[in-house]
Amino acid sequence: MIYARIAGTGSHLPGEPVSNDDLVARGVDTSDEWIVGRTGIRTRYLAPAGVSSSELARIASERAIEAAGCSADDIDLIIVATSTPDFIFPSTAALLQAKLGIRNGGAAFDVQAVCSGFVYALTVAEKFIRSGSHKRALVVGAEVFSRILDWSDRGTCVLFGDGAGAVVLEASAVPGIRASALHADGSHHEILNVPGTVAAGQVIGDPFLRMDGQAVFKFAVKVLGDVALEVLEQAGALPAQVDWLIPHQANIRIIQSTAKRLGLSMDRVITTVEQHGNTSAASIPLALDLAVRDGRIRPGHRIILEGVGGGFTWGATLLDF
Ligand code: ACO
Repeated sequence: MIYARIAGTGSHLPGEPVSNDDLVARGVDTSDEWIVGRTGIRTRYLAPAGVSSSELARIASERAIEAAGCSADDIDLIIVATSTPDFIFPSTAALLQAKLGIRNGGAAFDVQAVCSGFVYALTVAEKFIRSGSHKRALVVGAEVFSRILDWSDRGTCVLFGDGAGAVVLEASAVPGIRASALHADGSHHEILNVPGTVAAGQVIGDPFLRMDGQAVFKFAVKVLGDVALEVLEQAGALPAQVDWLIPHQANIRIIQSTAKRLGLSMDRVITTVEQHGNTSAASIPLALDLAVRDGRIRPGHRIILEGVGGGFTWGATLLDF
């Protein structure tokens, strides 16, 4: 039997942390008290002009490849989850392949599932590996959400940040990923979107992120609890057997609600939302890499990764690290 197992993790955050007070100083009509009280966010990282998702992805990927103890040319599949690609095409994954100097003709493509993107990409990569068609995948979440924020909309611009996280997922005789579930319900597309496009050389519609915060909050709390229980049931496991929950990092109150529903205390939940804000598809691999490198996550630990995002999309993975 071929399984898929994480062999290494890496991440990258651009520049210096930008505090809530820094946003006030830049003219956003908000306060540290409001942002911390409603979301838990204290700082975020914003990519300087000219730094793209593929560049953040390159640095995170190099770290993951080094941690996996392989070389870039051993990677035969690259999947990048992003809603802020460098270009309409080619894919950010193809650009990343070139930046990593990979010339082996392996597959490379992007996945677009917004904040669930990393869980979607990991699940797709797992299926490629378990089929025997590919041996070693680089799975990346990379975002420059700061480029699609309306900085005059205080209800959204304070929430997001930029960054990238990556894992090397490889074929293994020992089980790694044990269960996964992906879902979507496109009828909710209007509560979180960037409702613009490019045509005839112009932006048609609105190029900025728009959100009904309260509707998103309610939806996220419900589906994150449901999907975590779904993967546990698939694997025949109980919440008490989970060492770490790594949820998408949108809002500390959403994270606390999910942990409560699973009966997990917050000391078994990895949170980065305080320091990173919401980095969309990058948030889960960023949190995973942080906790691996600081020694909290160790080989053999059982972990649930779960995300929810625009579309709406949601999903979870249960894995043994
Ligand atoms: N600073 C100060 N005041 C603000 C700010 C701000 N940044 N943003 C909004 N307000 C004000 C509003 O204008 C409003 O004022 P009013 O009462 O005078 O009209 C008041 O705060 C309340 O606004 P609400 O939007 O009702 O605030 P709410 O309590 O719903 O909190 C929030 C907003 C934090 C966005 C919350 O709804 C939320 O966290 N939703 C989840 C959204 C989310 O996490 N999205 C991430 C993307 S989706 C994902 O990743 C899953």
